[in-house]
Amino acid sequence: MLRSQECIILQDRNAWTGHRNVTRSGKGLGWIRGSTEALILLFYFLLYAFLTGMFALCIYGLLLTISPYVPTYRDRVFPPDYDDGKQMATNVECTPGQYFLQDGEEHEERKACQFRRSLLKNCSGIGDPSFGFSRGKPCILLKMNRIVGFKAGFGTPIFVSCGSYKGNDSHVGPVTFYPKNYFDLMYYPYYGKLSHVNYTSPLVAMHFTEVIPNHDVTIQCQINGQDIVNDHEKDRFLGRVIFTMNIG
Ligand SMILES: *[C@@H]1O[C@H](CO)[C@@H](O)[C@H](O)[C@H]1NC(C)=O
Ligand SMILES: *[C@@H]1O[C@H](CO)[C@@H](O)[C@H](O)[C@H]1NC(C)=O
Ligand SMILES: *[C@@H]1O[C@H](CO)[C@@H](O)[C@H](O)[C@H]1NC(C)=O
Repeated sequence: MLRSQECIILQDRNAWTGHRNVTRSGKGLGWIRGSTEALILLFYFLLYAFLTGMFALCIYGLLLTISPYVPTYRDRVFPPDYDDGKQMATNVECTPGQYFLQDGEEHEERKACQFRRSLLKNCSGIGDPSFGFSRGKPCILLKMNRIVGFKAGFGTPIFVSCGSYKGNDSHVGPVTFYPKNYFDLMYYPYYGKLSHVNYTSPLVAMHFTEVIPNHDVTIQCQINGQDIVNDHEKDRFLGRVIFTMNIG
């Protein structure tokens, strides 16, 4: 290995000194030598120019296939403002029970449906800023991740259900859902954060009012609907949430 490297260095040095001798001894030969070097330089220049061009072209082609309106990775969006006044000022009232379809070019801005926090009634945090935790009747808010263009539920709203996780359901007690126990179709589809600027993710609040006290009660809440996976063996967060409560 080392030997062959040494060899190359020696060769280079020979070539260099040879070149100097040649230019000193005869003009014609020197010119030929010079023009060969120029050709080599030109060759490499063209080669690298070609490679740079190819690379730029590939990147350009790749960028063409990526739309800023459809996220490649998960959209990072700030939690929307559920304040009633803000919702009424920026968003429209939609018709429940049907998808809010808005035609138009990908870049056109879409209207968003109102989701007012007062819809969450006893779990809105308005009357009780502790969301029931101070009274041993905790509220848990559930939200689904956003999927661009996804018509959630395929016509039938995705609904939420809760029960004991590998335990006795009677320990969980009744659960009240606000505003309803499903995600209304009118909040779908979502058109992406660039066009659906004021989009407000719908919430389902789950109010646990009679969890058996002084016990670790592990609860599973899941979403149910067509094509919804909620019983993946390894992924305990796909289509469901599992948490433990101990009401003191
Ligand atoms: C989004 O909300 C802003 C105010 O925050 C409003 O000016 C704008 O018109 C809204 N956009 C759409 C598409 O409703
Ligand atoms: C909601 O709150 C009101 C008053 O704060 C109370 O009377 C009512 O029983 C609560 N409902 C539930 C289901 O906890
Ligand atoms: C669940 O618990 C209730 C009371 O806590 C009890 O009466 C019932 O037998 C239990 N059911 C099962 C399947 O363990």
